[in-house]
Amino acid sequence: MAKGFYISKSLGILGILLGLVALSTIIALSVVYAQEKNRNAGSPAASSTSPTASPGKPSTTTTSATTSDQTKPWNLYRLPKTLIPDSYQVTLRPYLTPNSDGLYIFKGSSTVRFTCVEATDVIIIHSKQLNYTLTQGHRVVLRGVGDSQPPGIVSTELVELTEYLVVHLDGSLVENSQYEMDSKFEGELADDLAGFYRSEYTENNVKKVLATTQMQAADARKSFPCFDEPAMKAKFNITLIHPANLTALSNMPPKGPSVPLEGDPTWSVTEFETTPRMSTYLLAYIVSEFTHVWEQAPNDVLIRIWARPSAIDEDHGSYALNVTGPILNFFAGHYNTPYPLNKSDQIGLPDFNAGAMENWGLVTYRENSLLYDPTSSSIANKERVVTVIAHELAHQWFGNLVTVEWWNDLWLNEGFASYVEYLGANYAESTWNVKDLIVLNDIYPVMAVDALASSHPLSTPASEIKTPAEISELFDTITYNKGAAVLRMLSTFLTEDLFKEGLASYLHTFAYQNTVYLDLWEHLQQAVDNQTSIKLPTTVRNIMDPWILQMGFPVITVDTQTGSISQQHFLLDPDSNVTRPSDFNYLWIVPISSLRSGKQQENYWLEGNKIAQSPLFQTSDGGWILLNINVTGYYQVNYDQDNWNKIQTQLQTDPSVIPVINRAQIINDAFNLASAQKVSVTLALNNTLFLIQETEYMPWQAALDSLNYFKLMFDRSEVYGPMKNYLKKQVTPLFYYFKNITNNWSDIPESLMDQYCEINAISTACSSGLSECQQLASDLFKQWMENPSVNPIHPNLRTTIYCNAISLGGEEEWNFAWEQFQNATLVNEADKLRAGLACSREVWILNRYLSYTLNSSLIRKQDATSTIISIVNNVIGQPLVWEFIQANWKTLFEDYGGGSFSFSNLIKGVTRRFSTEFELKQLEQFKEDNQETGFGSGTRALEQALEKTKANIKWVKENKETVLAWFTENNK
Ligand SMILES: *[C@@H]1O[C@H](CO)[C@@H](O)[C@H](O)[C@H]1NC(C)=O
Ligand SMILES: *[C@@H]1O[C@H](CO)[C@@H](O)[C@H](O)[C@H]1NC(C)=O
Ligand SMILES: *[C@@H]1O[C@H](CO)[C@@H](O)[C@H](O)[C@H]1NC(C)=O
Ligand SMILES: [Zn+2]
Repeated sequence: MAKGFYISKSLGILGILLGLVALSTIIALSVVYAQEKNRNAGSPAASSTSPTASPGKPSTTTTSATTSDQTKPWNLYRLPKTLIPDSYQVTLRPYLTPNSDGLYIFKGSSTVRFTCVEATDVIIIHSKQLNYTLTQGHRVVLRGVGDSQPPGIVSTELVELTEYLVVHLDGSLVENSQYEMDSKFEGELADDLAGFYRSEYTENNVKKVLATTQMQAADARKSFPCFDEPAMKAKFNITLIHPANLTALSNMPPKGPSVPLEGDPTWSVTEFETTPRMSTYLLAYIVSEFTHVWEQAPNDVLIRIWARPSAIDEDHGSYALNVTGPILNFFAGHYNTPYPLNKSDQIGLPDFNAGAMENWGLVTYRENSLLYDPTSSSIANKERVVTVIAHELAHQWFGNLVTVEWWNDLWLNEGFASYVEYLGANYAESTWNVKDLIVLNDIYPVMAVDALASSHPLSTPASEIKTPAEISELFDTITYNKGAAVLRMLSTFLTEDLFKEGLASYLHTFAYQNTVYLDLWEHLQQAVDNQTSIKLPTTVRNIMDPWILQMGFPVITVDTQTGSISQQHFLLDPDSNVTRPSDFNYLWIVPISSLRSGKQQENYWLEGNKIAQSPLFQTSDGGWILLNINVTGYYQVNYDQDNWNKIQTQLQTDPSVIPVINRAQIINDAFNLASAQKVSVTLALNNTLFLIQETEYMPWQAALDSLNYFKLMFDRSEVYGPMKNYLKKQVTPLFYYFKNITNNWSDIPESLMDQYCEINAISTACSSGLSECQQLASDLFKQWMENPSVNPIHPNLRTTIYCNAISLGGEEEWNFAWEQFQNATLVNEADKLRAGLACSREVWILNRYLSYTLNSSLIRKQDATSTIISIVNNVIGQPLVWEFIQANWKTLFEDYGGGSFSFSNLIKGVTRRFSTEFELKQLEQFKEDNQETGFGSGTRALEQALEKTKANIKWVKENKETVLAWFTENNK
């Protein structure tokens, strides 16, 4: 909480916490992981039934199918396989000022050329919320290409439910013939962040409007009529008509300079080159006054970073520009395939719901994921930028050049990019060891979710994914993070070179086409078969299927007396029931790497059996065994008590023998095993004893993540005093270590990990009551207050210093920070202040701040929930928010019900500490009292909160005495 990390990290930690308590379902965490997730998929427009056609007359109906006849192909969500698009010509004209009805609109015209592959007398093409201009009474004009004569049009119809434009013909289209269909239409340029939409921002007190796109997953159809499925690849000729003084961008470069629009030279026409064969969801076009920085990369690729003119003037685009060239080169080498286009544009948008979107040649980002200010952004902000860029650029080949056939294989696309983003970022920032962070940032958070009985497999049958809502649901943490985890495991046991060989062959074979995940397995298998040094126990497919097709992962248990090794489906709540059947009986083929007293042993395969035995895991020699080096395997590990003891001794004598990621693993796995009642809570706590001499980030972070649950359960009880003292004792040497290497806090440590660790050292030392730390925070803040124009606090440390200084300070400190918040121009800085303001210990200040969250002139609506949650995280704010929610639920719900307010996050946040019968009663009462108003998007969260509270009560009951005794004993 106190760390200045970007949102997905802190929410990732929340995932671990929730998982620890072993609740049944989590998972609105999806939002976080969905880097390109297109939230708020617009619901179909209000339905209105137009009169049906009278015979003989051309008819143009709109059908809002409620009782749909499933034998009619236009009532099915998947396109029939009768027509295949070949090429489109699309012209769009966005109006950036409202029309006389106050509506922002765009006008368009399009021609699609398609081939009939199976005779049919109906044309079915996607179209959503578009109004058509009639030509001879019909919405479209149909032509034959070459000598094919088209049948006549009987009628056209818009089917709202399935989002189709349907053209009924009086005869059949002929197999293997080509046709062209024209249409003219207009649509709303809404601020709904979907399809062709508008974004607004203010610069120098002037309101600006730009037009941009977000097509994934199913909104290209909201911009022009198209066969809107990923396998319906085609070539696109895009033309934009736009205000003459603005710039038009699209996937491809313009064919030439823009020309004035005939008859109205205040408008220009920009025609873009024809795209390669590509999927509709990757199209993009933008009209704005944005400016750019650029470079010509050695391989002749033009690289440009676009943003608001003032952001470019302040040089916030340079970091992105500097890393893009190297990352593109890295991936060209990694895939053994040149970058497929001749330009790469990336643009930071003021309004963007997802994190970023990999549109081919024109990648769109949220500003905080592309722009970086060297003087006031933190290292975490920088890491965010380079990893998101690497993620999106990885897709330019994997995803864009070769695309999955259908959304059910989304995990392959997103899992792959979520894995290789670390490789790309590592290449651009080679001193950071950023690759290691995948374990803390992606793998552990998803394990917390995947260890629940309510988890789901990575892969879903194509037939189960049909509607846009079903597609949207796929963008979750399992898809992104578990996908990344199992591909990393695969790449590790194949070796990266072999993995790359198979990957390149896959990309070469399927360029400009579509695949299913088995195609990748097949090409990896060919690479395996072409060599002899890497031997697998069975095929790539046989090894991977259990990881892809069944949910969860195993816990591997080793008995070092006998050398026996066994696997079992790991469930955080041992009492939970797995109702989902699996063809593999929840057994896996597990690659096992191991260390024997620090030395790496040969790899071992646990081949789908429950239990096996090997001398590799026997320690008659008195040494210790440690499994899963660098946590490349997607599983957890448990040992016999004797081996745990030896590991603890090793950690306390010479931890450096154990790789740093495994020092984090020992902590993480033990706490998880303790929640699953597979080891005692004292064993888990004992595994943190070595931290007193640990100076590395990863083990500390793993411990803080794990102990945060203890903090939530106990920070209002007598356990908290001894717990704080224990943390203070453990962190004090770390605090002085950083004080020393930073020359009394005047320098910043060199490495990324050390910079993160310094932040943890300060935030933990201050919050556990180390007075020198608190003095440091107060002094730095005071210096700033005395000279507001110069902030003496390094951007890395701001989140934690602000929080601690405001917590230790009073009204004056709070008011100063509030003023700075209101004046902040950089989002990164405003976010840090907004979080810090929630750290006050004054009830009246917190209550006032709480009231500000409902005043959108003080706190932007999009920030209201996250601000309230910061207040809840403060132990003093928690009861205030709970009272506030109980008293005002109806008003809150009515005023914010339809907007950006996240009721589910709110309920989750406010109930995180709930662990008493009394709180459970209150929560049940709350549910009863507001039954009539309802809980909207918080309904599921409320049920989960009830269940979680019960689990917390149980956990506290079982562990409180032990934990209190342990902390008391261990802070001497
Ligand atoms: C798109 O442009 C290409 C190149 O000029 C042309 O061959 C193709 O016919 C165009 N497509 C359509 C549908 O007009
Ligand atoms: C499309 O038509 C509907 C119904 O007439 C109308 O309400 C809507 O404003 C129109 N949209 C545009 C962009 O003109
Ligand atoms: C473009 O022109 C319009 C009016 O013609 C003007 O209002 C707007 O400020 C101009 N924008 C820029 C970026 O020059
Ligand atoms: Zn992605």
